[in-house]
Amino acid sequence: MPQTSLPPSLHDALVQILGPSGVLTNPADTEAFCVDWRALYHGHCAAVLRPANTEECAKAVALCHAHNVPMVPQGGNTSMVGGATPDSSGRAVVISTTRMNQIHTIDHADLTMTVDAGVTLKAAQDAASAQGLLLPLSISSEGSADIGGILATNAGGNNTVRYGNARELALGLQAVLPDGNVLNLMRKLRKDNTGYALRQLLVGSEGTLGIITQAVIQLQPAPRSRETALCAVESPQAALNLFAAFRKQDPSAIHAFEFMSGTSMALVNGLIDGATLPLEAPAPAYVLVELASPRADDSLRSLMEDVLGSALEDGLVTDAVLAESESQRQSLWMIREEHAEAQKRAGASVKNDVSVPLAAIPEFIEAATKACEALIPGIRVAPFGHIGDGNIHFNLVQPEGADPAAFLAQDHAMMDTVAEIVRKLGGSFSAEHGVGQLKTYMMPSWRGGAELQAMRRIKAALDPQDLMNPGKVLPPAQA
Ligand code: FAD
Ligand code: MLT
Ligand code: ZN
Repeated sequence: MPQTSLPPSLHDALVQILGPSGVLTNPADTEAFCVDWRALYHGHCAAVLRPANTEECAKAVALCHAHNVPMVPQGGNTSMVGGATPDSSGRAVVISTTRMNQIHTIDHADLTMTVDAGVTLKAAQDAASAQGLLLPLSISSEGSADIGGILATNAGGNNTVRYGNARELALGLQAVLPDGNVLNLMRKLRKDNTGYALRQLLVGSEGTLGIITQAVIQLQPAPRSRETALCAVESPQAALNLFAAFRKQDPSAIHAFEFMSGTSMALVNGLIDGATLPLEAPAPAYVLVELASPRADDSLRSLMEDVLGSALEDGLVTDAVLAESESQRQSLWMIREEHAEAQKRAGASVKNDVSVPLAAIPEFIEAATKACEALIPGIRVAPFGHIGDGNIHFNLVQPEGADPAAFLAQDHAMMDTVAEIVRKLGGSFSAEHGVGQLKTYMMPSWRGGAELQAMRRIKAALDPQDLMNPGKVLPPAQA
């Protein structure tokens, strides 16, 4: 392990600003901040800094900047791409937002929430719900992921199909820039054409341009009726046809439309306590569909029954179960939400968080499955995800009994095989998880030329010393 420590004068100055509990240096305390959720990356840091508000954060960043110390912003540490993990040099400090955790206001006239970056998504959802409102972003990691993290990654998730990504929810933002200056964009305006949209630059920048400390998030009226169903389907094409059937009736009613392959579902049922398939028999694939409306009438039930009734008659759906209570609804969602955890328990896996145009999904899944099975015999191809957004988590799980390290040593071969098919179909190599450190090597071939050059210029303008989350998103300049 590298011997790392802050210069004593910097350490003391940081303790002055953040208090003793705001500066962690004991390896036993800092270790968890240096490993990602998937345990793919094991970094080191000189300290973990825990500011309690924007002012403390700005002062700490200014000091680190003056001492040329790299900084790694971290929220709930649920990144799927190693975005919040420091490198192995031990030079960086992790700046954790977890102590910035106040919900300031919920505004019923504007339908907004003003909130600190370190409030978990779940806590923010619960606060909205307690006031009859909805924070319309839902991801399986919401108990840990926080507002700063979801904005920094422009998270998507289960409700993107209806409400858009995190980007669409952020009306206002406050951020500490790499030199410690505070960018205050905490406006609540739906219309504001006054120069460059700096808040949108911060959203999705994965901690490379500054530390988000507060946000104004758009809310919605809470649904008063919901209908949720799990459907067995024969193929991805059938799942898409079902999506089209719902969309034709009422696109605004579709709150979630999630796809699960037979392989990924079998992993959940085999590895997660309490998960059972509530259908007659296993199927090649499944869809979890949720309809929701702020109206408290029974029109959603008839919409669900009409569409599913016809789909069952036509053979588009081969079996289906409708939630008859909130607890049944939660059991159906648990099956979907445990997909990432089940795949983690199944051994090493390679995640391809890709998007393609909707119509190309069946061709993509078929071609990528064939190519990966040819590359690694016995590989378990376990796709699932947000099919209504064209976003498939084309995840590859190691063959049973294989050596995890040997499997992971081939990660680029697997990622590149999948990515080339995605490229031919006009898709993206990272739909919602971002680039982090895992996928920087793909940037030159996917976002090269003027696009990457513009990104580098923006980065150099805001962070000329390359101190804010170095090594993430942008590959080294010679690449
Ligand atoms: P972290 O992991 O702490 O950080 C993520 C990135 O943002 C890093 O680059 C970090 O430096 C930066 N960052 C964090 N906080 C700040 C801040 N305040 N200011 C500036 N930069 C910051 N993602 C989806 O989009 N959709 C999903 O459905 C989804 N499901 C998931 C399910 C599981 C089980 C897990 C483990 C992850 C999932 N993710 C999903 C990926 C992950 O990106 C999200 O959980 C979330 O957006 C990350 O939030 P976080 O607070 O954990 O951020
Ligand atoms: C999810 O939607 O559950 C996560 O984004 C996916 C993953 O584990 O790849
Ligand atoms: Zn996802």
